[in-house]
Amino acid sequence: MGNIFAVTNQKGGVGKTTTTVNLAASLAESGKKVLLIDLDPQGNASTGCGVDKATLEKSSYDVIMTEAKATDAIVSPEGLSFDVMPTNTDLTAAEVQLLDVKLREHRLRMALESVRGKYDFILIDCPPSLSMLTVNALVASKGVIIPIQCEYYALEGLSSLLKTIERVKQRANPALEVSGLIRTMFDARNNLANQVSRQLITHFDKKVFHSIIPRNVRLAEAPSHGVPVVKYDRSSRGSIAYMALASEFMRREKNN
Ligand SMILES: Nc1ncnc2c1ncn2[C@@H]1O[C@H](COP(=O)(O)OP(=O)(O)OP(=O)(O)O)[C@@H](O)[C@H]1O
Ligand SMILES: [Mg+2]
Repeated sequence: MGNIFAVTNQKGGVGKTTTTVNLAASLAESGKKVLLIDLDPQGNASTGCGVDKATLEKSSYDVIMTEAKATDAIVSPEGLSFDVMPTNTDLTAAEVQLLDVKLREHRLRMALESVRGKYDFILIDCPPSLSMLTVNALVASKGVIIPIQCEYYALEGLSSLLKTIERVKQRANPALEVSGLIRTMFDARNNLANQVSRQLITHFDKKVFHSIIPRNVRLAEAPSHGVPVVKYDRSSRGSIAYMALASEFMRREKNN
């Protein structure tokens, strides 16, 4: 479990997918061997990595719900320097189907055992809910990366996420820790954003990454080209921010 991280926050649209794709790409740029797993039926991370969801032979759905091996679903998209286990809307059905399956919270962890050793980092993009899919990601992971948009309701959902993490830790995965909180889409000119940012530091102290991801249009444009921002506009503020986050993340994980 040492190298697997769930990128999660049940609040929608806070930058989970943007963070998973661009952190994966930035770690890969630093020479790390990285696998991104798309565990959100929306499949945004798959699209953002240039994977055509319509023509997938195997997806993360097959890996979780059938006997398919993880390697059967992993692809190496052209032009990217990391691997991807994509998904499609089949995964929507998994939410319900998992309820009838033995060891339902452990399916992803078990499926990843055979490939974990091949990667320095495995990042899982989670759906915007505390569903059975998110629980599968948490059971499989060592760390939880929580993207937060610094706005009024940001802290509200956080306590149920932290409770879920605590429950998974007690029942299924004692090694699970919050790896860090990332401030995303940050606008330093916005008073409220600065206020929420200070609250985060008061509550979570060193768990808040120093690197801040600014609001940057290049980050929003890159997915429509099917590439991470580092391949789309390397010198953009968004790209530089995710490269800095990757360095900080690697430094922290070595110290842990
Ligand atoms: N730093 C940023 N600057 C500008 N736009 C951003 C930034 N981060 C994310 N976005 C845009 O905001 C929207 C939501 O981001 P994203 O899809 O990463 O969030 P999410 O948490 O994965 O959403 P969901 O909960 O639906 O999975 C997207 O259109 C994305 O392109
Ligand atoms: Mg997403």
